[in-house]
Amino acid sequence: DFVTDFKDTADDNGELSMIDSVVATDAPQAILQMAMEKFGADIALASSFSMEDVVCIDMMMEINPRARIFALDTGRLNEETYACAEKIRHKYDCNIEWFFPENDSVQELIRSKGLYSFKESIEERRQCCFIRKVEPLKRALSGLHAWVTGQRREQSNTRSNLQIVEIDAMHNNIAKINPLTFWTAQQVRDYVELRHIPYNTLYDQGYQSIGCSPCTRASALGEDERSGRWWWESAEHKECGLHLTNYAPPA
Ligand code: ADX
Ligand code: SF4
Repeated sequence: DFVTDFKDTADDNGELSMIDSVVATDAPQAILQMAMEKFGADIALASSFSMEDVVCIDMMMEINPRARIFALDTGRLNEETYACAEKIRHKYDCNIEWFFPENDSVQELIRSKGLYSFKESIEERRQCCFIRKVEPLKRALSGLHAWVTGQRREQSNTRSNLQIVEIDAMHNNIAKINPLTFWTAQQVRDYVELRHIPYNTLYDQGYQSIGCSPCTRASALGEDERSGRWWWESAEHKECGLHLTNYAPPA
């Protein structure tokens, strides 16, 4: 069960002992409060300005108006995503720490393989994601002791085993906090509405999950929430490498 799973993880890393009282039934606000008290300036939210992320921003700003938020600009984001980021910045009067890919890597990729190499194979797609997201994420996380994401279990079967508190083995074993682990898409939308939080207007056009513009499209309700991401690939490949600990459970 969840509590035992988490205690097992915590035993391997004394760092997390102060938040091992987190339980699955805790409200996201209580989880964020505990994590922010423990990690202070060394915790930040990773925001793609998804519905989930803006919910986390609203909750974190209530707890501490100086909470840290970083975002990875891949260079291929939708205009609507930038518009949402600016609305958030103005509403909460907060600073968004943007990170960009290495100029030389993007230039080399585009000059040698063209603008749409990611459509050619899973390897090419992963290379683009590596240059534009995974490498910048490493820089964003260096120096942090914990990060917060908007991931939820319901989003896909690669996330069905997600934990509220994880140890991020890909990033120096820092803590990874997923306060919305057990929330549904409906709970997220209701919260956004209730609190009048600015959101990405692509959701009003049928998008259910939003990444880079050329790799994201609208999907029908009832379809897998992430079916509009890299729709030309099969479901088990649909992680970009930001969350490599996510895996599809054995069938
Ligand atoms: S992704 O791995 O396929 O891109 P998804 O879009 O579902 O993931 O987002 C899951 C979480 O990863 C978000 O809630 C956010 O915390 C983080 N994330 C994804 N994309 C970015 C980005 N461009 N910048 C910062 N954080 C991001
Ligand atoms: Fe490149 Fe698409 Fe990955 Fe964005 S989502 S980094 S455009 S392959």
